[in-house]
Amino acid sequence: MKKYCILTYGCQMNVHESEKLAGILENFGYERETNPQISDVVVFNTCAIRESAEQKIMGNIGELKQAKRNNKEMVIAVCGCMTQQDNYPEMLKAKFPFIDIIMGSHNIADFGELLQKYLNSRKKIIEVGAPQDILKRDSMPKIRTSGINAWINISYGCNNYCTYCIVPYVRGRETSRPREDILKEVCECVNAGYKQITLLGQNVNSYGNDNREKFGTFAELLRDIDKIEGKFRIRFMTSHPKDLSEEVIDVIASSNKICHYLHLPIQSGSDRILKLMNRSYNREKYLNLIKLARERISGVEFSSDIIVGFPTETEEDFLETLSVVKEVGYQQLFTYIYSKRKGTVAEKLDGQVPLSVKKDRIARLIKLEQELATEISSKYIGRTEEVLIEDVHPKKQGIVIGSLDCGKTVNIKGDPSLVGSFQRVKITNAKLTVLYGEIV
Ligand code: 5AD
Ligand code: SF4
Repeated sequence: MKKYCILTYGCQMNVHESEKLAGILENFGYERETNPQISDVVVFNTCAIRESAEQKIMGNIGELKQAKRNNKEMVIAVCGCMTQQDNYPEMLKAKFPFIDIIMGSHNIADFGELLQKYLNSRKKIIEVGAPQDILKRDSMPKIRTSGINAWINISYGCNNYCTYCIVPYVRGRETSRPREDILKEVCECVNAGYKQITLLGQNVNSYGNDNREKFGTFAELLRDIDKIEGKFRIRFMTSHPKDLSEEVIDVIASSNKICHYLHLPIQSGSDRILKLMNRSYNREKYLNLIKLARERISGVEFSSDIIVGFPTETEEDFLETLSVVKEVGYQQLFTYIYSKRKGTVAEKLDGQVPLSVKKDRIARLIKLEQELATEISSKYIGRTEEVLIEDVHPKKQGIVIGSLDCGKTVNIKGDPSLVGSFQRVKITNAKLTVLYGEIV
């Protein structure tokens, strides 16, 4: 059987989009393979959010040069956010003449046709079109690859134009998916045995903003999904603090299935920087949201994205970020060094921060995160919680990994047959962000 390999970079959106590409390739009769060197079709599903991601991808594409030289029949395709940027298709073509298909993030639904066209003609294809029927990709077959987890898109694109971010340029304007389609897909996943449904959108809280009458609100969508029968968990990402409504907080609080966990990126703790980032909230408003969520949603935990070294960020600004991290006590942090992206507003700001300063700041932020982590995790010791067993431990035999409703990860002694089950687990120990426990 001929083999395909998809190399996925970046966010959960891309992970899920690769599941759609896999669906197309398996329809063609290809079989999954993890080593690109021995595959017949290799797809790079790329990310453009930071320069470091792009460098890694280009390095990985370069590594296939020899394999393609040895096997002229090999098909190499590059798609996703990177290709959607101005001049990138031409640049990729010049730099890697052995790429066969270059496809934009808007053209994923057409991958089957493009591949067929290439196989028929063996002529290079560049298809980086404007967004066509974005929702077409939801009707594509999917090969879900994340165990008991199912990802479901509720919207595509973003209208926020945070000044550092390339996403609105490469993913286009926010488009919501009809509520009935989402509900149908959730039902299908639950019936197929998936235990954790994660709703995906660049900004889930603005779901329906493009046509309120037709789509309703995110709170209404959540309420409907919560009513679907079966034992499963509902998660979602990403929440923008400017759009997270009190109603959504109340729906989470009163629901049976929606996890008591919010990924609520703050990006910076400094009001001055937040303004320059065009985030439309300040520190006080953000902290009030956290307070409200804590009051209403029992045991809620938070995670966040933080960027250090945004243009003009001073030591004082950065200290504000450190202090907000201390104040919130996040369960998990995703920390990034600011990366200048072409075409964004921040690219043109004076006062770019030297790399050495950015590196120093991220190191201090990670150090603080680690100092806080064990303390935050320790409060779980002695509690008995419901845990969803998600997977076997990748390295330790006889250990399975589960998650608490609030998102915390727990290592438990147990065999692989437990994966997919809900268990009562007594937490016995905590190290950094990870808990250890025993099934009771
Ligand atoms: N540089 C660094 N981090 C960025 N992010 C988005 N754009 C950039 C950039 N130019 C981060 C934000 C966002 C996360 C997905 O990636 O924190 O929330
Ligand atoms: Fe980028 Fe901001 Fe949109 Fe998130 S909300 S994708 S950070 S522009």
